[in-house]
Amino acid sequence: AIAPLIAPSILSADFARLGEEINAVAGTGEARADWVHVDVMDAHFVPNLTLGLPVVESILKTTDVPIDCHLMIDDPDRWAIGYAEAGAYNVTVHAEAATDPVKIAKDLRAAGARAGLSIKPGTPLEDHLDVLKHYDTLLVMSVEPGFGGQSFIDSVLEKVRTARGLVDTGHLNLVVEIDGGINADTIERAAEAGVDCFVAGSAVYGAKDPARAIAALRAQAAG
Ligand code: DX5
Ligand code: ZN
Repeated sequence: AIAPLIAPSILSADFARLGEEINAVAGTGEARADWVHVDVMDAHFVPNLTLGLPVVESILKTTDVPIDCHLMIDDPDRWAIGYAEAGAYNVTVHAEAATDPVKIAKDLRAAGARAGLSIKPGTPLEDHLDVLKHYDTLLVMSVEPGFGGQSFIDSVLEKVRTARGLVDTGHLNLVVEIDGGINADTIERAAEAGVDCFVAGSAVYGAKDPARAIAALRAQAAG
């Protein structure tokens, strides 16, 4: 596995002060976010509504930290490309929502973004293995997507272990990312299972000092 990447999720930030909240994790050294995770929800694929492309475009203008867009939306075949064209570093779509995931990955890469595929806690990794060779990131959901602050679902670590094995043996070339319930109590288990990139919403933006929270999570993940 690569050195741990920490991706704070702005879902738990103050949306009225988004620029400042992102700046708070854009410092230097161990406290700097590797990616800033942006949760796009459409109230259809998930029962919650957040933000869309216009807000992401504004975020991209305010920071040089790579932006990781997690699209919890129906019809990513139509919408994902716009986030890549806007300049997002990584664009992740849900396997359960994608009609032609291979074409999506090709389009995202052609637009200069990393392509990510996400699976919900109940979705088997095996169902999507054949398309993953077209992807750069696998996002394993460790809560049901839709809301921050939920409890970590340990059983998804089996999928992380399988993916880690396939990457380490050269069968896949992916960053393995995990999202949901990552905090001081859970990050070590996820790291041991082979996660490369850790999304943390409430554990970072719920902390008094988000930058310190990132540094602490990073140290725990590094073991
Ligand atoms: C949930 C989102 C997550 C969320 C995680 O559907 O995809 O990115 O922000 O929040 P925490 O870290 O609080 O579980
Ligand atoms: Zn997310």
